[in-house]
Amino acid sequence: MGSARRDFALKRTIGVMNWRLNRHRLHSPAVALAIAADIVRNAPDHVALTGDIVNVAAREEFVAAGRWMKAFGAPDWISFVPGNHDTYVRMNWEDGLAHLEPYMLGDMRVPLTQETPQIAAPFPYVRLRRNVALIGLSTAVPQPLHRAAGILGRTQLDSLSYLLSDLRERGYARVLMIHHPPLPGLASPRKALFDAGQLRDVLEAQGAELVLHGHNHEHMLNTLNSRFGTVHVLGVPSASLVESEHHPVAGWNLYRIQRQAGKWQIEVTIRSFDPASRQVSRLTDFALSS
Ligand SMILES: [Fe+2]
Repeated sequence: MGSARRDFALKRTIGVMNWRLNRHRLHSPAVALAIAADIVRNAPDHVALTGDIVNVAAREEFVAAGRWMKAFGAPDWISFVPGNHDTYVRMNWEDGLAHLEPYMLGDMRVPLTQETPQIAAPFPYVRLRRNVALIGLSTAVPQPLHRAAGILGRTQLDSLSYLLSDLRERGYARVLMIHHPPLPGLASPRKALFDAGQLRDVLEAQGAELVLHGHNHEHMLNTLNSRFGTVHVLGVPSASLVESEHHPVAGWNLYRIQRQAGKWQIEVTIRSFDPASRQVSRLTDFALSS
C-alpha cells in the first residue's frame, strides 16, 4: 500500500442526513433520490440516518421505507436511528420499525439496553468501524397530538455514560446519532428532547467527538465543553425538502474523521440540493476545532 493510499485509509468518512420521505408536498421523493445518489457517488465509509423516515407511521410506509433502504445500501453501511414520526402512532414492531431492523443492529455487546413494544431492537447500539464508534440512540416514543417531543430515558442515559467512557478508553472517536437536538434550548418545548438536560450532563462528564442529529430541518452547529474536550453537535436539513420559506432545501453532511498528533480532526462538507439545476453540490466546508 503506497503512502497516499495509507493516508486515505486513516480517514474515516461518514455521511449523515435527516431522512424524511413524503412528509407533504414540500418533500419530494425525487429530491431524496438525488440526495441518496449523491451520497453513493461520494462513497463515504458509512452513512448515518437520523430519522424521521416515515410520516404517519402507517404500515405501508414502513414497507416502502424498508424497500427504499435496501435499494440505497447495505445494512452494514447505513446506520439508522428513529425519530418522532417513526413512532407517530402506537404501532407494533413487526408492522413498523422491524422493516428497518438490520439498520439498527449493533456489533458490540452493550450491557444495558432499552427495548419497547414499538422498537424491539436494543438501544443504544454500537457499530465499530475501524477507529470510529457509532452509537445509536432512540428518542422515539408515541406523542400526543401536536407534540413532537422525544425521550431517551434513564436506561439509555446510563448505558450511554458507560459506553462513552469505555469507548474513549479504547481509543475510538465516539459519534452519537440521535434524532432530536441533544442539548436544552435547541428546540421549542413542544418539539424538544424531554431529558436534554440529563444528556448534556452525560456529555459533559464523558465527552464525545461528534453528535449528529436531525428533527429541526436546519443546518445547526453547537458546541459543548466537556471534561474531555469540545463536543461538536451538528444538525442537518431534511433529505427531501424541495423549497420552503422556513427551512433550507435538502442536504447532507460529509464528515472526515482523522487522528492527528494525538487529537481527533474532523472536517465537514455541507452538500445541498439546488432546485434550479436539480443537482446536489458542495455548499461549504470547514474544520471543527478540537
Ligand atoms: Fe422529527
